[in-house]
Amino acid sequence: MKLFAGAPGWTTQADVIVIGSGVAGLTTALNARAANLSVLLVTKALIDEGSTKWAQGGIAAALGPGDTPEEHREDTLIAGAGLCDIDAVNVLVTEGPEAVRKLIARGAVFDKAESGEIALTREGGHHRNRILHAGGDATGAEVSRALLAAVHNDSGIEVIEHALVIDALKSVDGRVCGVTLHVIGAGSSTGVGRALARAVVIATGGLGQVYSQTTNPSVSTGDGVALALRAGAAVADVEFIQFHPTVLWRDTAQAGQQPLISEAVRGEGAILLNHRGEKFMAAVHPQADLAPRDIVAKEIFNQMREAHVPHMWLDATSVKDFVGRFPTIYASCMSNGIDPKKQLIPVAPASHYASGGVLVDLNGESSVPGLYVCGESACTGAHGANRLASNSLLEGLVFGARISENIAAHLAEQSEPVGDGDEARILIDPSIRIPLQLAMSEGAGVMRSEKSLRATLATLEQLGTRHTEKPGVDAWEVSNLHFLATAIVRSALERQESRGSHWRSDFLETNQIWQKRIIQKLDIDGSWSSTFEAVKQ
Ligand code: SIN
Repeated sequence: MKLFAGAPGWTTQADVIVIGSGVAGLTTALNARAANLSVLLVTKALIDEGSTKWAQGGIAAALGPGDTPEEHREDTLIAGAGLCDIDAVNVLVTEGPEAVRKLIARGAVFDKAESGEIALTREGGHHRNRILHAGGDATGAEVSRALLAAVHNDSGIEVIEHALVIDALKSVDGRVCGVTLHVIGAGSSTGVGRALARAVVIATGGLGQVYSQTTNPSVSTGDGVALALRAGAAVADVEFIQFHPTVLWRDTAQAGQQPLISEAVRGEGAILLNHRGEKFMAAVHPQADLAPRDIVAKEIFNQMREAHVPHMWLDATSVKDFVGRFPTIYASCMSNGIDPKKQLIPVAPASHYASGGVLVDLNGESSVPGLYVCGESACTGAHGANRLASNSLLEGLVFGARISENIAAHLAEQSEPVGDGDEARILIDPSIRIPLQLAMSEGAGVMRSEKSLRATLATLEQLGTRHTEKPGVDAWEVSNLHFLATAIVRSALERQESRGSHWRSDFLETNQIWQKRIIQKLDIDGSWSSTFEAVKQ
């Protein structure tokens, strides 16, 4: 299965193509250079425009006095609600501290406590203060700055901006040996070209734009995951869409990227209040306002539903030095007319993070040889049914390094791509973007049921019949969103239980028989298939 696009009018080549310029892509690119491989770094907008720079809270790693990878593992496994792959979690928590030290050596500067040690804060699901942060609440921006500086200093990394990847190219033996991509103004009049390589790494980040309200930027349309699906790669755990509990509520009519109010604000003492001004989290979980993210999001949703109100409140008036500690959040609250030092902040859940993605092994390789996936686009198994706060930047650092090492150790010869044969091609009309997002938020959001999911699937099927023959970024993006929305709804329908961030009103309990991963694949004719896999505990 491929997207409908013009024939490539130009060709470029490198040892490794890295698609995406967030923490996962930049780390993979720099480590591939350390192994002396030439790198083509392809990014959809400007190089610093991905999700990473929006990350507020930080990076979790067992670096504080008395903390251990084992304790970090325990918190990760609890948040993951029985679906984490133990080997992936072990890799994450044991290689995490060294990966963070390497990031610091690459120039990232983290906030310090008065003692001069790195300051560590706490977020939901952590039993210890183990979150490093930078610029108060601008951790992603600092990580991005440091890694980009290193990339710009390396002449062995060619960067192509404004490049949307379209589909994978494969050699005669089925190995991925490049991609087709569209670069505004490049090559032929259509701008479609091909990039060839000995390995391709997808690091395109999240897919939050599948929903109407999200913390993700507009570029987060899951292009890499959709490309991998069409290339025949298996995806897993895609039903586990994490809703961040505290996104600044402005108006139900607001769509697209919404301002995040980091969990770290609760880590520094802020408390959730309901519409009557009462605290409610202590009655729900021993960690109260710092319970794992899925539990807080669900309780906020319940409170909103019962009281028929569109948001809850966050009382951050007791947070010490709010302006100094959370300058980004302070600015976004003030620009929306709320002074968090004196006023309550209206908050509601919004889609935030895909805990699943393209199924990969511990070296980041997908089920299609030559195709690697890193960061939010991947499903390493480290997050299970619900990612632990601030484990995502860490995953990009740890697995980016492993991927480069693996590519360098098993470097394939460059091969020529073969033609597509009679593979089906599709392109969906860009006008379906908003109806798709509304249908997903309505029927496959925080709480789902068989009825809501079947209705959403029917809407998706109907929207999927609106084809266009006019290739372009909007049409490719919406086609990608449609593939991903379909995968999410299919898995969510299949999983007849509630677990982690998958919450079914018709199956409220977690059921032991569902302690398995749902794996989906797309065939070359566009048909879907699912299988199950036991999770390594
Ligand atoms: C936050 O700052 O609350 C988000 C951190 C994360 O998603 O891990």
